[in-house]
Amino acid sequence: MRKSFEVVVIGAGPAGYIAAIRCAQLGFSTAVVEEWKNDRGEGKLGGTCLNVGCIPSKALLESSENYERLAHKFGNHGISVTGAKIDVAKMQARKDKIVSELTGGIEFLFRKNKITWLKGHGKFAGSGEKYLVEVAAGGSAEIVEANHVVIATGSTARHLPGLAVDNDTVCDNIGALAFNAVPDKLGVIGAGVIGLELGSVWRRLGAKVTVLEALPEFLAAADEAVAKEAWKVFVKEQGLQIDLGVKIGKVSRGKRGITVEYETSEGKRTLDCDKLVVSVGRVPNTRDLGADTVGLKIDERGCIEVDEYCRTSLPNVYAVGDVVRGPMLAHKGMDEGVMVAERIAGQSGCVNLDTVPWVIYTAPEIAWVGKSERQLKAAGVAYRAGQAPFSRNGRAMGQDETAGFVKILAEAKTDRVLGVHIIGSHASEMIAEAVMALEFSASAEDIARICHAHPSLSEVMHEAALALDKRALHS
Ligand code: FAD
Ligand code: NAI
Repeated sequence: MRKSFEVVVIGAGPAGYIAAIRCAQLGFSTAVVEEWKNDRGEGKLGGTCLNVGCIPSKALLESSENYERLAHKFGNHGISVTGAKIDVAKMQARKDKIVSELTGGIEFLFRKNKITWLKGHGKFAGSGEKYLVEVAAGGSAEIVEANHVVIATGSTARHLPGLAVDNDTVCDNIGALAFNAVPDKLGVIGAGVIGLELGSVWRRLGAKVTVLEALPEFLAAADEAVAKEAWKVFVKEQGLQIDLGVKIGKVSRGKRGITVEYETSEGKRTLDCDKLVVSVGRVPNTRDLGADTVGLKIDERGCIEVDEYCRTSLPNVYAVGDVVRGPMLAHKGMDEGVMVAERIAGQSGCVNLDTVPWVIYTAPEIAWVGKSERQLKAAGVAYRAGQAPFSRNGRAMGQDETAGFVKILAEAKTDRVLGVHIIGSHASEMIAEAVMALEFSASAEDIARICHAHPSLSEVMHEAALALDKRALHS
């Protein structure tokens, strides 16, 4: 007899595993189909985020920041060291341990919530009274039945035509997180989130990093003032080399590394490097999902078509996370996972894409939520801006992390907060207050009247709110 479940989730990344846990909490019999295997051939839960994304990248980020502090920054505190060294193998082993603890943690949560893990590749095999999902692994396949299906198949790195990724010399995120030595010269194609985060990791550890970006503008997705400050810090102070407006030409591999030929507005150039990272965006995973078998609609960008509640074109079939429209961020996928579980249970879960925070984990960090000045101008919205620097904040000075600022944008007429943009240490933590403000339709005055602990970085948010009303107290 076929196994039958109330809900079958395809994919156990953050969107899928969270959807499954919430479904189980709500009392549904739940199974998750997941095919991920690590390099030892062991099945793993957690998807891109836990295995080759958010978690390992932040582990390396911390190691590389510690190394840079020790090697170059502690002198200011009167702490001197000689012969600071980085043991890359140990750094990677620490990262792998964190990954394995977290992926193991999800296995524990599945057992705790009585979620069945169906190991293998999942695809639609038919529909009738119930959906049929085929789970294929190691040459054999089984069909299971589901009343509801949640597709959470995530995304994979986009590669460039004619440039094969071997994850040894030419790498996507998978290889770039696993170098076993610091490359002397690292090339990165794409100055987006991965290029900047991982480029910074290997720069801090001693690589000479050159980033090649197709767009003529740096960090076009961020607020212009933030992008300008980031350029000043990353390029002028930290020595990251970034070429904008490039057109990549021939890439050749020789015994001594890789040569990238490219063009900028200033003419033809070549870049010689030991390793090359290709980080030019990600594509949704919809291949071999049996979409045609059941008539599931996929849009021209390859995303599964969904409405605001992540309902697809098929009844009782939902899709969440990177495989649908919206930012490709783990927390956005997790919130969608909770929403669909609650909708399946007849509740009214929802996700507000307008208040999803963005964080770029560089040093200093960049974080924002809501609209940028450019977006407000384009929409013809009259607004006021208030900005305060970290350089006058006592906590930031104590931490030796004084770069950057907080900027708050509020509607001119109502004072309602429309966007908050931060570049600075711990921006990833500080943005939570701004998300709350947007979600609760707070005014800038609300932030100005809230008591912020002293001394703390959060005081810069307070000061920016005061600055918006031209009554900053510390500048
Ligand atoms: P995924 O995490 O991609 O998981 C999808 C899962 O589905 C995979 O396990 C896959 O094996 C499985 N699957 C796919 N097809 C099938 C099938 N047919 N059958 C069975 N299983 C299938 N986001 C942040 O918010 N913060 C960060 O700091 C951050 N850092 C990142 C760093 C890097 C280097 C990268 C690459 C990404 C980062 N992201 C970050 C993005 C984040 O990883 C993704 O947004 C998130 O993982 C998407 O979750 P998901 O569940 O939709 O998909
Ligand atoms: P991205 O979309 O952030 O950046 C890709 C960059 O490559 C863009 O600037 C683009 O203009 C450039 N590009 C595209 N084609 C190019 C070409 N042919 N030559 C040169 N440049 C080219 O994509 P990235 O960095 O690959 O990351 C993918 C996604 O993963 C992110 O958009 C984000 O959603 C997620 N992510 C999130 C993180 C976080 O939240 N901190 C960290 C890392 C990834």
